[in-house]
Amino acid sequence: LSKIEIKLADIPEGKNMTFKWRGKPLFVRHRTEKEIAAEADVNLAELRDPEHDKDRVINPSWVIVLGVCTHLGCVPIANAGDFGGYYCPCHGSHYDASGRIRKGPAPLNLEVPYYEFQDDDTVVVG
Ligand code: FES
Repeated sequence: LSKIEIKLADIPEGKNMTFKWRGKPLFVRHRTEKEIAAEADVNLAELRDPEHDKDRVINPSWVIVLGVCTHLGCVPIANAGDFGGYYCPCHGSHYDASGRIRKGPAPLNLEVPYYEFQDDDTVVVG
């Protein structure tokens, strides 16, 4: 299937759920107010792949990224690592709660796929 419909009400605040989309893991994260504020505040000069959080999300409560480490393609672990977002155990890449690379060998942020909100509770990815 090239598109996937996700019911957001199934994902509690503070949780990340993994779906399968086009043969790859897809992460959908329901961020807390604290995470939203922290990611909006990050100084772009600290980033290896500088992208503002607002350019990576449509609705700041929801982060939707491919669960594929940009180093060599392992699947990162959610809510782990030094920056509270994702941690890739293969070679130790740390991503923040916007999916941006912060430490370790990965060169780029986790990829944001094309998606749109069908309504407040439904996202269609693809
Ligand atoms: Fe993720 Fe190497 S594949 S750190």
